[in-house]
Amino acid sequence: MRNMKIDFGLVAKLFGTPTYVYDAFTIRERIGVVRKVFKGFDFTILFALKANNNPVLLRLMADMDVGADVVSPGELVASHRAGMRPVLWNGNGKTEEQKCFFLEQGFDLLSIDSIEELEMWQDTAIPRLLRVNPNVDARTHPHISTGLKHHKFGVDIEELEKVAEKIDGLHVHIGSQVTSVEPYEAAYSRLVRACREFGLHTLDLGGGWGIDYNGEYLDTDKMREMTSRVFSRFDGKLLIEPGRFITGPAGFLLAKVLRVKKGEKTFIVTDAGMNDLIRPALYNAHHRIRILEPAGPAVSCDVVGPLCETGDKLAADRILELPTAGSLLVVEDAGAYGFSMASNYNSMPLPAEVIWDDSGPVLIRKRQTIEDMYSNVIGP
Ligand code: LLP
Repeated sequence: MRNMKIDFGLVAKLFGTPTYVYDAFTIRERIGVVRKVFKGFDFTILFALKANNNPVLLRLMADMDVGADVVSPGELVASHRAGMRPVLWNGNGKTEEQKCFFLEQGFDLLSIDSIEELEMWQDTAIPRLLRVNPNVDARTHPHISTGLKHHKFGVDIEELEKVAEKIDGLHVHIGSQVTSVEPYEAAYSRLVRACREFGLHTLDLGGGWGIDYNGEYLDTDKMREMTSRVFSRFDGKLLIEPGRFITGPAGFLLAKVLRVKKGEKTFIVTDAGMNDLIRPALYNAHHRIRILEPAGPAVSCDVVGPLCETGDKLAADRILELPTAGSLLVVEDAGAYGFSMASNYNSMPLPAEVIWDDSGPVLIRKRQTIEDMYSNVIGP
C-alpha cells in the first residue's frame, strides 16, 4: 500500500534540518522492480551497503530476503545488525586483519579481485567468485566507471583459464549510474560464455543501474528483455548487487533556507552543504531541488551550502521559484551515496536520518553532536 505523502514540514519540526528522509514504500517498490527483471531465474539480491548503511533500512531489506554486498568490517557489522543473508565481501584491498575479523563474525561469499589475492584464501572454504574485467565501456562518469582494462578492478578475462579450477564463480561490475542496456549485455554475454567454458555455476552481475536524476535512466523493461535472452543460456545461480537503484529515489535531503542572496547571481543559501551531500561538488551530479513554499518568481540561481568553499553547491544554474528565509527545500534522489559519503568538513556534525513508513516519521539516526564529533580525540 502506498503510504501517506511525506510531510517534510513535520519532519523538520520534529527533528530539525539538515535531515535525510527515506520513504520505506519506495525502497520496497524498487526491490520489487529488481525482482521482476530476474523473474524466473534463480537469483539473489545483495544490496550494496556503500550506497546506504543505515541498519533500519537494511532491516527492511532483510525482511524482504535481500542479502548484502559489503566492502569493509564496518559494513559487515551493519549487515549483521540488520540480519541480512547472504553476505558477500567485495573489494580489491582486503587485509589479513580484516580477513580475521570477517572469519570471526561470519560471511557467506567472497569476490576476489586479483590472481594475487587468491593466495590469501587458500586456507578457507568460503565460496569464491573471481571478479572479471570484461573490457566494456559503461559510458558513465569516469570516476564511477570500472569495467575497462585500464581500471583497477578485476582480472583480465583472458587470464581466467589459469585459475578457473580454483574458483566457484564469476563476478562483474562495469560501473555505476549506467543508463544503457548495451554495456550490460556485452559484459553479461562474455561472462555467460566464460561460465559455460569453465563449468562455473555462480554469476554475480554487480550493480550500477542508473536512476532518473535528470531524465536519463536505465530502462528496466529492456533489462528484463535482455536478461531473459542472455541468461537463457546460463545454468546456475545469479547474484545482483544494486545500491543506488534501491535507495537512491527513496531518499531526500531536507534543508532549511537560510537566506536568498540577490546580486549579479542569485543564491539560495541552505543549512545543508557538501558535507551532507557531496555528489554535486564531487561529480557535478544533478539532483532535482524541490522548493516547498515558493514565494517569488522563477529565476536562475545556485543552491549553495554554508561551507567556506566555492564548490559547496547542491545545484548550479537552476530555474527555481524563490523561497523565503526559514522555509524548507528538498534535494531529491539523495538516498544513495548521500549520508554514506557525508563528512565532518568545516567541523559540521553529520545530519540526522528519518524513515517515513506507514506510521509516519521515525528517527533512525540521531544528528551527531559536537561532543560526538570530538569524542575520539586524545588530548585537550
Ligand atoms: N557492486 C560493486 C562491486 C560496486 O563497486 C558498486 C558501486 C556496486 C555494486 C553498487 O553500485 P550501484 O548499484 O550503487 O551503482 N559514489 C558514487 C558511486 C560509486 C559506486 C561504487 N561502486 C556516486 O555517488 O555516484
